[in-house]
Amino acid sequence: MSIDKLHSSNNDFLNESSFSDFSDFLKKESGIDLGKNKQYLVVTRLKKILADEGIQSIKELLEKKHVLHNHQLKERIIDAMTTNETLWFRDGYPYDYLKGVLLPEMSKIKSSFTVWSCACSSGQEPYSVSMVFNEFNQLSTKKLNVNITATDLSNVILNNAKKGEYDKLSVARGLSSDRLRKFFQESGDKWAIKNHIKECVSFKKANLKDDHFSSLKYDIVFCRNVLIYFSKDLKNKIIKNIHKNMNKGGYLFLGASESLADAGDLFDLIHTSPGVVYRAK
Ligand SMILES: C[S@@+](CC[C@H](N)C(=O)[O-])C[C@H]1O[C@@H](n2cnc3c(N)ncnc32)[C@H](O)[C@@H]1O
Repeated sequence: MSIDKLHSSNNDFLNESSFSDFSDFLKKESGIDLGKNKQYLVVTRLKKILADEGIQSIKELLEKKHVLHNHQLKERIIDAMTTNETLWFRDGYPYDYLKGVLLPEMSKIKSSFTVWSCACSSGQEPYSVSMVFNEFNQLSTKKLNVNITATDLSNVILNNAKKGEYDKLSVARGLSSDRLRKFFQESGDKWAIKNHIKECVSFKKANLKDDHFSSLKYDIVFCRNVLIYFSKDLKNKIIKNIHKNMNKGGYLFLGASESLADAGDLFDLIHTSPGVVYRAK
């Protein structure tokens, strides 16, 4: 079936009950809570997959018993439903505060740092953190090591992140020309992140819905602009799990519109003006 034909028959493609079944499926697999009235999102994001698979509707997709067992198809559907919007040094203040306040303070007592970027999308967040450590080292007599673990649910986006190559539009979003010159080299029509920034970051797949126990405890966690997609219960579970994986006195950055839900007693809140950061108790 052509994409145009699918588009012209949205009602057959996705009726109310199949929207509800699809929402349950997505929530169970990824934690992503679509809420109400997001039919357009499902239609837009899945029509290509259904066209490729020769399937006529979401109902048919879900009825296909193999979806739950067809690992590749299931992953493709979940990948398509993730929102990967990101940019370099997003919101500015977490990175300014890290470089100007936290690293000077924390470096008085340690020189090796562990960082977790737990919904890293195409890599802008963990690579921005790596650049901040590099910039700190340029200015400080004490040199810091950093080991950044970057995880995400989406395989497609993780593969892009690992490459560390960005088109002109992506590098224009949040990078100063000074940082572009310092930390990237031109590679054909793309910009490739330089090795000394890249090698501090290791990428792997992890679903925040699952309990994640790392062999190392983290000093700094970036969990930004992902909790907004989850129910309150799941947010609480994730924050508690993050806390378990942090060193006491470590720092957690959430997105500008996100909060600790009901897990506030695990952290002290510090105003960074603008914004806040949370210190693990
Ligand atoms: C909007 S991006 C935020 C990227 C980055 N943290 C930032 O603030 O710019 C949200 C990311 O969360 C990921 N994500 C969604 N559900 C997830 C889950 N259950 N576990 C891990 N990552 C998830 C998506 O794949 C996407 O890359």
